[in-house]
Amino acid sequence: MPVTTTGKVVVMTSGGDAPGMNAAIRAVVRKGLALGLQMWGARRGYEGIIDGVLEPLSSRSVSNIIQRGGTILHTARSPRFLEPAGRAQAAEVLRANGMTGLIAIGGDGTFRGLIRLAELWDGTTVGVPCTVDNDLFGTDCTIGFDTAVNTALEAIDRIRDTASAHDRIFLVEVMGRQAGFIALAAGVAGGAEHILVPETRTDLPAIAKSIAEEQKAGKTSQIIVVAEGDEAGGAVEVGQKLKDLLGVEFRVCVLGHIQRGGSPTALDRILATTLGAYAAETVREGVSGQMVGVVNGQRRRTPLADAVGKKKPVDPAILKLVDILAR
Ligand code: F6P
Repeated sequence: MPVTTTGKVVVMTSGGDAPGMNAAIRAVVRKGLALGLQMWGARRGYEGIIDGVLEPLSSRSVSNIIQRGGTILHTARSPRFLEPAGRAQAAEVLRANGMTGLIAIGGDGTFRGLIRLAELWDGTTVGVPCTVDNDLFGTDCTIGFDTAVNTALEAIDRIRDTASAHDRIFLVEVMGRQAGFIALAAGVAGGAEHILVPETRTDLPAIAKSIAEEQKAGKTSQIIVVAEGDEAGGAVEVGQKLKDLLGVEFRVCVLGHIQRGGSPTALDRILATTLGAYAAETVREGVSGQMVGVVNGQRRRTPLADAVGKKKPVDPAILKLVDILAR
């Protein structure tokens, strides 16, 4: 097995935060130290690397964070890193500080950044999938997805109470600009009558017809879950269009960033711990350009280009089942 010499490794969190980021940082740092690596942290993702805001991390730096949402390293979407000058500066900072590896905890934008950085810097790059969207190929679940789904589900359950009390139809918008995984999971678990996701074509006249049929069949309240990136629009727009088609009032609830905060679930903490430690091992072995993941219960490495380039499909069978069970 190829093993790098003891090195200086920087860890960062980047892009949209997700519950479990801190648990992942903790595992990366403690496993890295146990493997003889020097561990450093960059503040605010690529922004911190460009500006050279790097700090050494000890075992104590990551105490008491496994249960906390957010990220102790802070995060950012970095417009400067999208420019060649920003990337060149980041590579220079890594070289000047003697870094031999970079572990990036984040989602697809973060990993696209790692791929571009590897063109300019020859350190070992490893990605840890951490986004509420769950839209990365090469892992069954991303860190943060389970917590976000449970947060959305709790909201849906509460909305169902008031929807039922008032005999109303609610549209609940969940996160997912390009992916419907949160909508699908929270919608199925919450017994939603309809789930609108960007991965499938949304036929609003057909949905309007089925809402009317369900009302005729005695359903007095309904929940429609809408992924924010559905091609028919977000929940506000879809509500307006359905109102035009049906002539009935809808209530709309946009859950937004509530889904990104809060204490991670046990599943997310365990996944973050497993993947954080695996990322440290991967960097120690000098295996570069990979995302670590768990597929069918097994740890897997997937090339970063596949992780962001290949599409993780939503299950069409479950969407079909939602239609059947809504009746
Ligand atoms: O991180 C993913 C995500 O939460 C998407 O689901 C959402 O569309 C986006 O981030 C929101 O980003 P921001 O916090 O930058 O507005």
